[in-house]
This record gives sequence, C-alpha cells and structure tokens, in this order.
Amino acid sequence: MLILNGSKSQSLGEKIAVDLGIKFENVSTRRFPDGETYVRIDTDVKARDAVIVQTMFPDQNDSLMEFLLIADTLKNMGVSKITGVVPYLAYSRQDRKFQSGEALSIKTVTELMKAVGIKELITIDTHYQHVEPGEFHLFNIPCVNVSAGPLLLAHIRERVANDLMTIGPDLGSSSMIKYATGEEKILKKEKRCPICGKPAEECKCRIKKKKYEITEVESELDFNGKNVVILDDIIASGGTMIKAVKKVKSEGAKKVMAAATHGLFMKDSLIKLKEITDYLVVTDSIFTPISNVSVAPLIVDVLK
Ligand code: R5P
Repeated sequence: MLILNGSKSQSLGEKIAVDLGIKFENVSTRRFPDGETYVRIDTDVKARDAVIVQTMFPDQNDSLMEFLLIADTLKNMGVSKITGVVPYLAYSRQDRKFQSGEALSIKTVTELMKAVGIKELITIDTHYQHVEPGEFHLFNIPCVNVSAGPLLLAHIRERVANDLMTIGPDLGSSSMIKYATGEEKILKKEKRCPICGKPAEECKCRIKKKKYEITEVESELDFNGKNVVILDDIIASGGTMIKAVKKVKSEGAKKVMAAATHGLFMKDSLIKLKEITDYLVVTDSIFTPISNVSVAPLIVDVLK
C-alpha cells in the first residue's frame, strides 16, 4: 500500500503512513497562472494499492479538483485499487433537495469520484444524512464513517477535567453524542424567519434556509456547577456553538468546553469562541491553530 497526500492533508497523511510503517509521497501540485490545477505523481504506482489523503476545506472546489486529478492520474498509471481518505467531505451538507430545482451536490461529487476510479472512501463524522459511525454506501461507493467524538472527549478529560457532562448543541448532533457517551443529551435550537418572525417550519416566505436565525435555545438539562462539553460535528459560522455556549454558561455551568470534529471557523468565529469558552478544540481533519486532536489513529485502524 502507498499513501499519496494531496496539498490539504500533507501532515495528516504523513502521520498515517508513519503509523502504518509504509511509504508516502506528497503529490506535486501547483496552480497555473490562470488558477487551474497542476498535478504530477513521481513514483512507481503500477499494480499497487493507493490511498489518497485529501481533506476538502478550505477551498472545497480546488481541493476536490486536485483529488479527482490525483485519482485519475493514478488510474491511468495502472494502480490496482484507489481508496480515498477524505476527513472533511465537502458538499455532504447538500445531501438532499431542500427546495425544488436544487443540485444534489454530494451525489454529483460522488459520481465524479467513481468516474476517476475511487473504489472506497474513509471519512470522519460526515454530515451526510447524519449517518452513524460504521460502514455505509455513498451512492454506491462503499464508505466508512469514523467518529472523532471519543478522542475529543478523552483529550478534554486529560487536559481540563475528568467529570464531564457532554451535550450536543442541536438535534443534528444526536448520533455523535450517543456514540461518544451512550446518552443523547442535546439542546433544542429554534430558528425563525427574519422577515415574518415565524419558526422556520411555519414560514412561507421561501427565503434561503441559511438566512433563518437561531433565536432560542431550549434545554431541560441541569448545568449548574457542572463541567459541560458541547460536542458537534462541524463548527462553520459558529452560530450554533456560540448560542449553545451562552445558554449553558447562563445556566450556571462551572466550566464550558467546546469540541468539534471539523473546524471551519468562518469569519471571526474562532476568536469569539475562544473568548467565551474555557477550552476549545477541534481535530486535524482540517488544519486550524487549535487542531490538537489527530484523526490519524482512527484512519489507521480502518486501513490496517
Ligand atoms: C448541524 O446539523 C451541524 O451539526 C452543525 O451544528 C452546524 O453545521 C454548525 O453550523 P454553524 O457553525 O454555521 O452554526
């Protein structure tokens, strides 16, 4: 087996290869002056099993294009099998048509991957249909979804406090919380339309789903005096996590920690979250200044 790292996951790919004790190569990539992607693989891959490690954030479209070019080049060079390790699978949030006429983006992405010879995928806490950890099929590509929840909690226990109450910031996090803790403690968030003020499910304004604002967070849980970890798959705009942290703090928690698998941290959400939490951590599925938990051991376990 041979590991080939795309430009977005060189250090993660190196960790995986070192743990497995196998050869790796950082694929040569660069941009042409007009912005197009150049890829060259300078190693003998004929008849070998190849694993491409490439996360897909930041620059989802460029990262995806690079991944496709690497895979197609490997296929043309005569590899025997290609596995894609894509810790953050871009477009997995567009996993259904929310309104008529919308692209089912994750299906298109998967079909492109299939066309360039990807035979199986390994991903971490994918948002795709909130599938549980384990094996599933992503439009006919066999896929393994691994959860980083237990590793994130172990890290916080070691660094901050042992007695933790772990909750999810919304319904979407329930399977991740259940897998990591065996329980399903989650907050309920309410989103309202900024035009008519009605809850999102009653609104007829047909504005973009993303424009709905989180107005309220509800909970019947008792946070008083507890060390609370809020665990989620993704921090993107940070809106969900910030609201959840504020809610838990306002109800008397002793310490509030925020943890997520994928830290996209759009705009100033990283700074804001650092200011209001006692501890903040994400994994190296995407490289950030606080990617202090590595997903390499999880991927190594699947590849072994
Ligand atoms: C939702 O189902 C997800 O689990 C995350 O809570 C969500 O994607 C976070 O997005 P944002 O940071 O933009 O609120």
